Amino acid sequence: MVGSIKFDGVKKDFLTMEGETVNALSGVDLEIEKGSFVCLIGPSGCGKSTMLRLLAGLDTPTEGTIYIDDKKVTRPDYDRGLVFQDPNLFPWLNIYDNIAFGLKVRKLFKDRKNDVGEFIELVGLKGFENSFPHQLSGGMCQRASLARALIGHPQALLLDEPLGALDAFTRMNMQDELLRIKKEKEMTMIMVTHDVDEAVYLADKIVVMTPRPAKIEQIIDVRLSQPRDRNNAEFIRLRSKILQILDFAGKEKEVEYSI
Ligand SMILES: Nc1ncnc2c1ncn2[C@@H]1O[C@H](COP(=O)(O)OP(=O)(O)O)[C@@H](O)[C@H]1O
Ligand SMILES: [Mg+2]
Repeated sequence: MVGSIKFDGVKKDFLTMEGETVNALSGVDLEIEKGSFVCLIGPSGCGKSTMLRLLAGLDTPTEGTIYIDDKKVTRPDYDRGLVFQDPNLFPWLNIYDNIAFGLKVRKLFKDRKNDVGEFIELVGLKGFENSFPHQLSGGMCQRASLARALIGHPQALLLDEPLGALDAFTRMNMQDELLRIKKEKEMTMIMVTHDVDEAVYLADKIVVMTPRPAKIEQIIDVRLSQPRDRNNAEFIRLRSKILQILDFAGKEKEVEYSI
């Protein structure tokens, strides 16, 4: 299995149009074991998407280095697949052609034509090959977007709030699908989420980030076996621990008793 990842002293500053420097990441050190599921969680605007974009090679760190399997990340490559909140499918292509698109661009379609059917089946879209994105639900479009990322056989799948726009039931369904796909294809998955429950349900490791300039506040190992029970005592303990770190645990009002 391949796909170990290392952030080594990664800093990222952005220069705004007004000429101000935005210090997005202020020194991130993180090691991700191959084959693990890591969730990044933290306040909005703290730099989670920036971390994924840097790992994807879509942008470069101001300081520090990112490695995948000891190889320096310098540009996007097929060893990393990307899935965003918006499925970003081509509306004029049917599901089959959307998923096959990457292979066609790389002139691999003739040799790997069978992959298209395999991945359509893997994400549960068999029978919908000829449908267009507007004819499918949000969850189905996100399944297609997953297949499109997986068809390149990535070592690591980078997921930026991929289930954020789905309704609660579809979302839980898709969480199970992600776990099933990960087990079948044995890859590293790194997912940004705002949903603490989702992180505890999916991850081996939860990375809690501080507000900007972001660094890692705490790394929590989830030692629960899969499949997980959301009502398990340890599950609930971890959920409240993370909410506390994020300062969202809430305060109990003092109750005045009178007899
Ligand atoms: N291209 C950019 N130019 C200027 N500022 C940016 C750019 N990309 C991100 N930022 C800023 O960096 C910070 C982190 O952004 P982001 O990684 O998108 O946060 P998150 O995904 O955690 O919500 C934010 O304050 C954002 O405004
Ligand atoms: Mg983001």
